[in-house]
Amino acid sequence: MNNVTDLLRSHRSIRKYTEEPISEEVLEDILSTSQWAPSSHNTQAYSIITIKDQQKKQKLSTICRGQKYVANCAIFLVFCVDYYRVHLAAEMNDLSMNIEETNDLVTGAVDAALVGENVLIAARSHGIGGVMIGEIRNNLAEVADLLQLPPFTFPLFGMCLGYPEPTEIPGQKPRLPTPTAIHSETYKTENMIEELAKYEIDSASYYTKRTNGLKTTGWTKQISTYMGNRRNIKLKEFILKQGFDLK
Ligand SMILES: Cc1cc2nc3c(=O)[nH]c(=O)nc-3n(C[C@H](O)[C@H](O)[C@H](O)COP(=O)(O)O)c2cc1C
Repeated sequence: MNNVTDLLRSHRSIRKYTEEPISEEVLEDILSTSQWAPSSHNTQAYSIITIKDQQKKQKLSTICRGQKYVANCAIFLVFCVDYYRVHLAAEMNDLSMNIEETNDLVTGAVDAALVGENVLIAARSHGIGGVMIGEIRNNLAEVADLLQLPPFTFPLFGMCLGYPEPTEIPGQKPRLPTPTAIHSETYKTENMIEELAKYEIDSASYYTKRTNGLKTTGWTKQISTYMGNRRNIKLKEFILKQGFDLK
């Protein structure tokens, strides 16, 4: 154990914040630190848009199915997959960019996710909490319009940041039993069902306590119900329009 692993092990998503603003100095430290994430081929195929404007946060909150913390956080960030700079680099060198492969999209998504987690960890090192927000993908066109995104970009996920309201810090959600997620040398399926059955009990007990009995199911029931329902998120059309070919 050390300071870094202690910090990582104490993670929980924070959705309730005090009124305290995040200073420019702290924000600059968080964001410039996050840029040190590794990046496939050093493409650095991401952008971060910071949003403090209350009206914009309100609009984004509506897009995110009314999640209140999107409007109530000190700063909302949008993490984009971004090949616009690569397009400019190609033009500068009299070349044309080719992002027709689905792999290009995956590369950008991994780059953006790595930077995103760096932001969250750097923020936490300053005593700030946050939660990532995938719901911005409910209406990519509206988000892109609001943020004036150029071609070859698309919004991947958002993040709320703010100083945690001390009385509203949730308990930590139990994680999957380690043997179901981490394997040595080869993937092991043995005992997975038994481990998941144990996890169902542990996680159900966690959710029952966290919701005062409103939610009594555990991870296996929740995730299979969630994944079994259509979520009707239309990504492909927008991503194609932004210049990705997904071949
Ligand atoms: C890419 C991504 C998108 C997420 N989107 C949302 C969201 O829209 N709303 C929300 O309340 N939490 C969201 N979360 C937070 C997860 O629900 C949370 O990380 C997970 O339940 C585990 O809980 P913990 O972070 O407190 O340990 C998202 C997390 C990730 C990584």
